[in-house]
Amino acid sequence: RFFSGQSDPKSRINQTINIDSPKVVHSFDVEDMGNKVIYCRCWRSKKFPYCDGSHGKHNKETGDNIGPLIITKRNA
Ligand code: FES
Repeated sequence: RFFSGQSDPKSRINQTINIDSPKVVHSFDVEDMGNKVIYCRCWRSKKFPYCDGSHGKHNKETGDNIGPLIITKRNA
């Protein structure tokens, strides 16, 4: 089944975000990011690509341990 080439909707990481797009990509200029940015890595955020804390509910429901990517400027 893993190499059948058929997609299984339940195995998708992305369940809701730009679901009809062939690839979801976000691009940012580092100069526009401010002192701290928190990006979602669970794909459950309503503010994707930014984290809104939804990973906590996902982790509680699934036993997963996903958290965000936090980027800060040095000396910020
Ligand atoms: Fe997805 Fe926080 S909401 S990592």
